[in-house]
Amino acid sequence: MKYRIAVVPGDGIGHEIVPVGMRILGAISQQFDFALETESFEWGAGHYAKHGHFIPEDRVAEMATFDAIYFGAVGLPEVDDTLPFKLFTNLVRTRFQQYVNLRPVRLFAGIDSPLRNKTQKDIDFVIVRENNEGEFVQSGRQLYPDRPEGLAIDTNIVTRAGVERVARYAFALAQTRRGHLTNVTKSNTMIYTLSLWDRVIAEIAEEFPDVNYRKMYVDAASANFVLHPEYFDVILTTNMIGDILSDLGGAIMGSLGLGGSGNINPERAFPSMFEPIHGSAPDIAGQNSANPIGQIWSGVLMLDHLGEKRAAEHLLAIADRVTARGVRTADLGGTAKTSDIEQLFLQEIAKAS
Ligand code: NAI
Ligand code: MG
Repeated sequence: MKYRIAVVPGDGIGHEIVPVGMRILGAISQQFDFALETESFEWGAGHYAKHGHFIPEDRVAEMATFDAIYFGAVGLPEVDDTLPFKLFTNLVRTRFQQYVNLRPVRLFAGIDSPLRNKTQKDIDFVIVRENNEGEFVQSGRQLYPDRPEGLAIDTNIVTRAGVERVARYAFALAQTRRGHLTNVTKSNTMIYTLSLWDRVIAEIAEEFPDVNYRKMYVDAASANFVLHPEYFDVILTTNMIGDILSDLGGAIMGSLGLGGSGNINPERAFPSMFEPIHGSAPDIAGQNSANPIGQIWSGVLMLDHLGEKRAAEHLLAIADRVTARGVRTADLGGTAKTSDIEQLFLQEIAKAS
């Protein structure tokens, strides 16, 4: 099989870790007899600073012709930070109906979680974040922000169809795992939108009697991430809650730099997009010091989505072998460089062939 991949490094450390990820995926593809035909695009805040667009409108459709998008992150300190999400990340996620944001959380071998006494068996769950509506629809307005009567409004949108489709995906995912689904919500205070959210999810739960369903408020869930991560198998949550909880998930894995994700269009009418959970980390960009494992794990999720399940499992196992060797980038308290981690991956891949 041959897959066409649109590669978008974006900004900051994206320029370092995306090429690492692509070289590792290239090595894996040779072992598993498939090919990745790649084309690179310079979309992002750097492009905006030079040309006035994160991605020119007439080039968005071109991205739809690929089988998947392998993305780093966008955002630069010198560019207005209200723009990267609006003009790139969320634009792609909504235009390509990537309404599932899949964010697995697991402890890699040999890595100490900051949670004392928690081991690999305790930290192993998946966050399914609704990715097309909710708190992040960016429908709102500011009026007279400089004046005493200044006011601002954001709108939270929940649609029945939007909840049904992401809920079906999450319940089906739970069936392939340990069979537990937790709806993380805040319907006790967001009494209109999130009550509808809860109601629709409870209805979909009836279609999946083999999945153990429960509801948990996000404040309690945050505490449980730290105290009892083993409570969770599949978490289904809203756009903003999922965004926040996935950084907490990254933290309990040991570093934000370890988290991978997929923006999935389950119907496959459009390409899905795979990116680490962190941002462009301008504070460490250009130093060859970023942790590339979240970017590589995003590649694992991409292989899985493309149907290369064996290759995906193999690459995840390789990641455990690499982390078990104890070599650490600065985010995990070590002195290894991005390129050192790449070399370890390539060595382990070569050993396995
Ligand atoms: P960030 O995730 O880029 O960085 C937060 C902290 O984690 C920084 O200290 C950074 O050095 C560290 N870090 C992140 N990834 C790392 C890695 N792979 N290895 C080692 N350390 C790592 O978040 P921040 O600083 O809030 O945002 C920076 C820029 O990224 C902003 O412009 C923001 O808008 C953008 N951003 C973009 C996202 C996207 O494109 N999907 C997502 C989140 C932020
Ligand atoms: Mg985030």
